[in-house]
Amino acid sequence: MSETKENNSSSDGIILRELRQEDNVNISLGSEYVALKNFLKKNAKDYHSKNLARTFVAVDNNSDIENQVLGYVTLVSSQISLTKFRHPDDVAEYPYKDYPAVKIARLAVDTKHRMNGLGKYLIGWSIAISIKKIMPFIGCRFLVVDSKPCAISYYEKNGFTLLDTEENKKNKHPLLFIDLHKL
Ligand SMILES: CC(C)(COP(=O)(O)OP(=O)(O)OC[C@H]1O[C@@H](n2cnc3c(N)ncnc32)[C@H](O)[C@@H]1OP(=O)(O)O)[C@@H](O)C(=O)NCCC(=O)NCCS
Repeated sequence: MSETKENNSSSDGIILRELRQEDNVNISLGSEYVALKNFLKKNAKDYHSKNLARTFVAVDNNSDIENQVLGYVTLVSSQISLTKFRHPDDVAEYPYKDYPAVKIARLAVDTKHRMNGLGKYLIGWSIAISIKKIMPFIGCRFLVVDSKPCAISYYEKNGFTLLDTEENKKNKHPLLFIDLHKL
């Protein structure tokens, strides 16, 4: 699977595309992740169509089961407040309180399809979309995520940095970021 193409199709049949009404969103995420499952089942299509949160899904075009979602990522526009965030070293005089960002609001992969690089693919695609489709038109410096504590090291493996403040580390969902301008 390619990590950075924004209109992906791949030789193993797995493609990434926007969520559709006909998609089968009944995925299995394990009992700890009911909220992620419920979001996809109950809210994602509605929010997607109303531009509140855009969801992109991985589906297997070679599968007998049509439109079965294997994993998903949901993106929203966001910002990082300076009260929590340090200035990037190339920004001398930025007078505003907040830096513009894209946020990974949700990310999950079906239990049967984990450990195959699908999560990495969804993150890589989010980075590519931000750089190629958003940043040329809209000020956007960071990709951010409010992570579950158990996923912090997963995001670090995928290029994110944990915001290094005591307040953030104690947070229920600590913030991690990628400075997209530096990629
Ligand atoms: C986290 C998640 C998206 C990873 O998806 P995935 O497709 O299985 O992951 P990938 O195949 O891209 O990556 C696998 C690698 O990440 C590691 N990894 C997987 N989950 C991890 C975690 N929670 N913490 C640290 N490392 C993790 C694996 O050990 C493996 O490492 P390796 O490459 O050194 O062998 C998936 O496990 C999931 O949906 N979890 C439940 C929901 C969740 O935690 N969402 C994110 C938090 S908001």
